[in-house]
Amino acid sequence: MLTQSENDALTRVGPGAPMGKVLRCYWYPVAFVRQLDEFPVRRVRLLGEDWAVFKTPAGSYGIVDERCPHRGASLVYGMVEDGGLRCGYHGWKFDTAGRCVDILAEPDSSPKFREGCGVRSGRAAELGGMVWAYVGDDPAPELPRYEAYVMDGVRDIGHSVLPCNWLQIMENSVDPYHVEALHGNYFEFIARMQGTPMPESFTANKHAKVAFDPFEHGIIKRRLLEGQPEDSDDWTIGHPLVFPYKMWVGGNGVYQMQIRVPIDDTHTWAVFYTVHAPDGAEIGADPPIVDYEYQWLDDDGRHIVDYIEGQDIMAWVTQGRIADRTVEKITRSDVGVLACRRMFREAIEAVEAGRDPVAVVREPHDVIKLPLERSKFGRGAQFAVDWINDGSMRYSPIAEEMKQLHLDAASRRQELAPA
Ligand code: FES
Ligand SMILES: [Fe+2]
Repeated sequence: MLTQSENDALTRVGPGAPMGKVLRCYWYPVAFVRQLDEFPVRRVRLLGEDWAVFKTPAGSYGIVDERCPHRGASLVYGMVEDGGLRCGYHGWKFDTAGRCVDILAEPDSSPKFREGCGVRSGRAAELGGMVWAYVGDDPAPELPRYEAYVMDGVRDIGHSVLPCNWLQIMENSVDPYHVEALHGNYFEFIARMQGTPMPESFTANKHAKVAFDPFEHGIIKRRLLEGQPEDSDDWTIGHPLVFPYKMWVGGNGVYQMQIRVPIDDTHTWAVFYTVHAPDGAEIGADPPIVDYEYQWLDDDGRHIVDYIEGQDIMAWVTQGRIADRTVEKITRSDVGVLACRRMFREAIEAVEAGRDPVAVVREPHDVIKLPLERSKFGRGAQFAVDWINDGSMRYSPIAEEMKQLHLDAASRRQELAPA
């Protein structure tokens, strides 16, 4: 249980808030590359502030305060030009660093005159089919090239904006017992009520033990299910919460970065960034990047709870816009949640002391690999197929193709008899 001020310190994301300062130390995905190719300026709300993100004709990205410093029109309605963005109202032009480089109606548009006319800016860049933004202080850290964003494979990106604070989603990443209850017992209950079959991959996941190991990119979560040998990947390798807004999960040829971008205190952009890359798959050059919105409410406004992420979303959203941690009852099984809060508190202390918090990457690099079970729950390609059938990927326009990709790859690996 926390006091109100402790809960506020952990959850508020705006500028000046302790956690807001921590969160401004990281890069965030803010759009799909295809969106800026379709139209080169978009509004982005990130950490409680509004920005205009844009792509110049030459292909560089910028992100600037939405409000034009001249008289406040929205730069979301600006024009992209060589080297920058020009306000639609009176034509002040800003480069990707936010400097004012031209004032249309001003006879004296000298550099000296334009000093002080710039717009607040961040940095923007492209990686893995997404446009990323950094809106914190200089010097900007490296944009981390986690394996998900650079590996070969078909990219299948489901996303939705959820009406809740990002932290309750992160706490769920270090809460392994919910798999047994929410994705096991509750899923069975819903399947029985609906008269639909319960997916085998999610039954009987009873935990024998769990462990949480802080490491340089967050917290590794390990679990051993009853009946699993101690040398199972789930126990010896595990998978991580990637500080401060992601979880890396997968196995059996499916790799997924679950990304939770804090839009503001009470909204989170929840992105399931999945790469299909089973051993033995024939993935051509230039594999597709597909994005789509998954559904989580039905026509009556009830949560859709007959798929895995829908169940998670029910739990995250029904905890409230900002979960009230002043009335919770934490028990021993919440040990991972406590580890997560500790890491966030330590990050606040680090930033207040002028140090980088955990998982800020300063060294240039090609790829950052994170631990991940190779064989999830000891199951093969059927796990991948079940994951597509029973997860948010069922809303993917390429769901059937991806199931076939996994089955074909398994048959090439001779894991399954050829069809
Ligand atoms: S308000 Fe943008 S140029 Fe005048
Ligand atoms: Fe879950």
